[in-house]
Amino acid sequence: MEDLGWKLEYRLGIPAMDLQHERIFDCLTAMAGGSAGQDRLLAESVLVRLLTLLQQHAALEESMMRSFGCPGLERHIADHRQFHGDVHALAQKSLRTKEPVSLDVIKVLHQRQREHLMTSDRRYVKYLLGPPHQGGEGETGGKPANNRAGAGIGWKSLRRGQTGHCEPHAESL
Ligand SMILES: [Fe+2]
Repeated sequence: MEDLGWKLEYRLGIPAMDLQHERIFDCLTAMAGGSAGQDRLLAESVLVRLLTLLQQHAALEESMMRSFGCPGLERHIADHRQFHGDVHALAQKSLRTKEPVSLDVIKVLHQRQREHLMTSDRRYVKYLLGPPHQGGEGETGGKPANNRAGAGIGWKSLRRGQTGHCEPHAESL
């Protein structure tokens, strides 16, 4: 089976983001396993978990982008909403039909997530990790990033348990 997992090349250098991205790719890998197997409950719980992870991830990433005055925030938020909405629709269909998401659809989700990570997400890295921002033309008004990465919103202090895991949890069902 094609490797759908997280790869080192996906690293942004922002630990909390990298960890959350890794969990999302772990979920897609687990979904692919579920689509091939017979464990319907596992497949459903992974889908629910993916939705939770996407929501948590979008909230943190958008909050960071807003805090650092990254341009393109509204577009980025729209991309997140679109992806989450599509996964939500797939989850509803899967729960209704009792059929797991097909491997072909999971591959499309993987491709979309990978493209978002390698293009849109990479654009904000320089604002979070680069030299002090002097104020740009972003949708946030280009406010100075007076709380450089780790200084104000505490993403460096996020522990593994706070970013979520892909393993199914009973409370997610
Ligand atoms: Fe993003």
